[in-house]
Amino acid sequence: MCPPLHFDVVYELSTNQWMDKNRKPDKALANQQWTKLYEECCKSAKVTLMPSCPGLPDLIFVANAGLRYRDAFIFSHFFHEERRKEFLHHFDFFGKLLKGHTTYVLPENCYFEGQGDAVWLDDKRLVIGYGIRTNFSGVKAVETLLKKHYPEIEVYPIAMRPQSTFYHLDTCLCYLPKAKAFLAYPEALLREGMETLSQLGKICPVIRQEADEFVCNSVVINEETIFMPWASQSIKNLMKEFGYPNVQTFPMSEFLKSGGAVKCLILEM
Ligand code: ARG
Repeated sequence: MCPPLHFDVVYELSTNQWMDKNRKPDKALANQQWTKLYEECCKSAKVTLMPSCPGLPDLIFVANAGLRYRDAFIFSHFFHEERRKEFLHHFDFFGKLLKGHTTYVLPENCYFEGQGDAVWLDDKRLVIGYGIRTNFSGVKAVETLLKKHYPEIEVYPIAMRPQSTFYHLDTCLCYLPKAKAFLAYPEALLREGMETLSQLGKICPVIRQEADEFVCNSVVINEETIFMPWASQSIKNLMKEFGYPNVQTFPMSEFLKSGGAVKCLILEM
C-alpha cells in the first residue's frame, strides 16, 4: 500500500470520467479513510508500504503497479502519459523489494495496468481485461512472458466495453474463490468477455447503482472476510451465501473522486 500523502486530482484522463480537477479530494478525510483500511489490512496480512512521492498523485493506486507471479514481476506500462511517470518509482521500489525476482518491462506498443486489469482465479488461471487501458497486445505480451517460465498458466483475455466509468477490470469484476463466482457489472464488458467469464465461474450481476458504489472494487482478505467500499444488506447476504460472512466496509468517498476504492489501493503480492 502507499500512503496518500501526495494524493490529489490534478489532471483528467479521457478514460476515467470520475476525475474532475474542480472536485478535489479532502486530504484529511482521504488520510483517515486510507488509514482505516491500512490498519484493518495489517490485522490479516503483512503489509509493505511504498513511499508516496510529490508529483505522482495516483501512485497510491498500487494495484496498477504491476503483477507478481511466484518469482516474476511484470511492471505495468500505463496507457496515459500522466501515469507513466510512476514507472521509475515502481522500478526502483519493486526492484529493491523483490530482490532475486525476475522483473519484466513491456514493449512500447503493449499497455498493461497490472492488477487493475488482471485477476488470478487460482495459481494457474489469469483473466485480463483489455480494450480501455490494457490493450490486446499487452495481454499477449504478459501471457508470453508468464508462459515462458510457467507453461501451465492459462491467460483469458476479457474484452471490455469502451466506456470511461468502469475502465479497469477491478472496477467491474471481483472474483470470489470459495464460490468460484464473479461479482460483476455485465454492462462494462463486451458480450465475448462475458461469455469467457461464464465459462470460468458463476456470474453474479450487480446493478448500476451498486457498480457506481464500486462494490466490485473489493478484496477477499481471507477465508471468511471480504473488504468492500460499500455493501447493502442484500450484498452482505450474498457474500455470506458465497462463503464470506465477514463483510467489512470502508468509506472511500475521497478516492472515488479519482475513480478508485479498496481494491485499487492494494497490490496483492
Ligand atoms: N485515477 C486513477 C486512474 O485513473 C485511478 C486508478 C484506480 N485503480 C484501479 N486499480 N482501478 O488511473
